[in-house]
Amino acid sequence: MHTHKIAHKQNFKEFGDSKKFLAFLQSCGELKIIDEPLDIYLEIPHLAYLEVKKKYGKALLFTYPIDKKNNRSFDIPVLMNVFGSFSRLDSIVQRPIAEITESIQSLLKFAPKKDLKSKFLQLKELFALRKVFPKYHRFGMPPCQERIQSTPDLYELPILTTWPGDIAPFITMGQVYTQSLDGTQKNLGMYRLQVYDKSHLGLHWQIHKDSNHFFHQYKKAGKKMPVSIALGGDPLYIWCAQAPLPLGIYELLLYGFLRGKNPRVCKCLTNELYIPTDVDIVIEGFVDPQRMELEGPFGDHTGFYTSQEPYPVLEVSAITMKNSPIFPASVVGKPPLEDKYMGYLTERIFLPLLQSTTHGLLDYHMPENGVFHNLIFAKIAPEYPAHAMQLMHAFWGVGQMSFVKHAIFVDWDAPDLQDYESLAHYILNRFSTDNLLISEGVCDALDHASPNFAVGGKLGVCAIGKEITRSSLILHSDSELLTLVEQKFGFVKDLKQYCIATINPLCMLAVQKSDTSLKELIQAVALGELARALRIVFLLDFAKNDLHNPYMLTWRIVNSIDAKRDIWVQENVVFVDASDKAAMDNHYRQWPKETDCSPEVIQKLRELGLLEDIHDGFLKFFQIESSSR
Ligand SMILES: Cc1cc2nc3c(=O)[nH]c(=O)nc-3n(C[C@H](O)[C@H](O)[C@H](O)COP(=O)(O)O)c2cc1C
Repeated sequence: MHTHKIAHKQNFKEFGDSKKFLAFLQSCGELKIIDEPLDIYLEIPHLAYLEVKKKYGKALLFTYPIDKKNNRSFDIPVLMNVFGSFSRLDSIVQRPIAEITESIQSLLKFAPKKDLKSKFLQLKELFALRKVFPKYHRFGMPPCQERIQSTPDLYELPILTTWPGDIAPFITMGQVYTQSLDGTQKNLGMYRLQVYDKSHLGLHWQIHKDSNHFFHQYKKAGKKMPVSIALGGDPLYIWCAQAPLPLGIYELLLYGFLRGKNPRVCKCLTNELYIPTDVDIVIEGFVDPQRMELEGPFGDHTGFYTSQEPYPVLEVSAITMKNSPIFPASVVGKPPLEDKYMGYLTERIFLPLLQSTTHGLLDYHMPENGVFHNLIFAKIAPEYPAHAMQLMHAFWGVGQMSFVKHAIFVDWDAPDLQDYESLAHYILNRFSTDNLLISEGVCDALDHASPNFAVGGKLGVCAIGKEITRSSLILHSDSELLTLVEQKFGFVKDLKQYCIATINPLCMLAVQKSDTSLKELIQAVALGELARALRIVFLLDFAKNDLHNPYMLTWRIVNSIDAKRDIWVQENVVFVDASDKAAMDNHYRQWPKETDCSPEVIQKLRELGLLEDIHDGFLKFFQIESSSR
């Protein structure tokens, strides 16, 4: 278990200035400064990508970003991987996470106390709530408006192109401030922003997100929508921006709650929005709701490129900044990356909120290699029949939790949800085809496996109750089983079994696909004796998967299936087709490419001596080495 050494070494509550935060990171040995001139096109992001995957990777400050193609250099350093370890996460939050969840719980379960001491503590808690509300900056120049660009020019900012297939540079850590048409509701969200030209940005707020709901109000009213994007300042703003609070609850209030300090905000120069005074850079503007442009492709946090879709466009009306700003950025792609740590904090802090609508929920966990919404484990204290199913539907029915594709529910006596090996054994010893729920619903806009955009299959597994003891399984070694499988299915090239000590071992089959769907080929054959040797079978493309790498196999499987189409039970064997899909599989959307580094850029970084501690094995299987809590 991680201890909170860094966070409590010193109190630095006033690090609203990102420079103070940098100095703090440096004093803890958590910051690496790279003075080498490096290109904003791939070089900076590739180095940050590899760094965050190391066990003790650091935050990186690139002091000399350049744009080789356009022969430019920037006087604004780029800061990356700020959230990229548990120790840095703690130093940003500054309070033990358990303490935060306790105080949220106590607010949610508010009940008048009887004894004087408890009454006093309760009053103190309530009194502290006055700190959540933003305070308005009234006098003097706010720091974020010290410098004002005479003509707004996004190309003066070191905006990165992360992946070779990205269509353009993207802002990846922008705090996007919006408000409802009548101004009564405010929102802070984090959505990537594509640079179209020096004064236009694509706003990738997906269809289910809060700012998009506001956008519809402006569209209906035929009015331009003000949008301001802030970069930098207190890193906690960034986490708050991605926090999935319900529509109408302003994320800056969460900031005030977590910091115990009122956020200070000032009015933007060219629109009516307010942004925190201490941010490094502000991009102000308006969205014309009549104008939509194609956005993407962009290598996303699923580890795949998202394809082009129409999104609104921000016309920039002003760019302001501090006198010496710092530009924050993040790399998203195959896990684990910085969002692992941000996601962990989200998961912990939102548990008490989730529990308020899901009676019986004890804990939940979304592993980072399930790219969060693709896989969730939930531990419950069941009280009545179908309790687990009720909670699955609750998850699938509300807010961003509805993006969850695969939900595995376990009983109160299950191992810790992060002890994956013990948990897998617990689940598989209770797994039965009778306890599978396949449903359909809302999908994340990024999901590429669903046959239709943002609508797809859901899988619920109920591993509740006692172990199932009876089993007619005949266990074979991997090589024996491969021979048996090959006799029936010539397209199988390799095989590996996992969890063979359970009554439902997992069998990974590496397959070579032809022009017929795997489901059709398998369903055409009677399994016969083979059905007694197989329980749960995963079909994976031979060329793309390493059967010895369960971390990435999990990533692949939960990313690449649509439960309704790709899971079937045949002679009591569960088949899961996790291969790439195409028209032969009744999948008519384009299957996306994966986010992989450019070999030339890696070679260049190696020649510069910047990858001395990175060996080829790390590049291939790096995911195993990231820090764990
Ligand atoms: C690094 C990072 C990048 C993100 N990019 C996007 C994005 O481009 N579009 C989007 O809709 N959500 C994106 N998200 C997720 C949203 O920030 C998250 O869903 C948030 O809760 C949205 O806020 P809202 O509910 O106020 O709309 C991103 C999250 C992270 C951590």
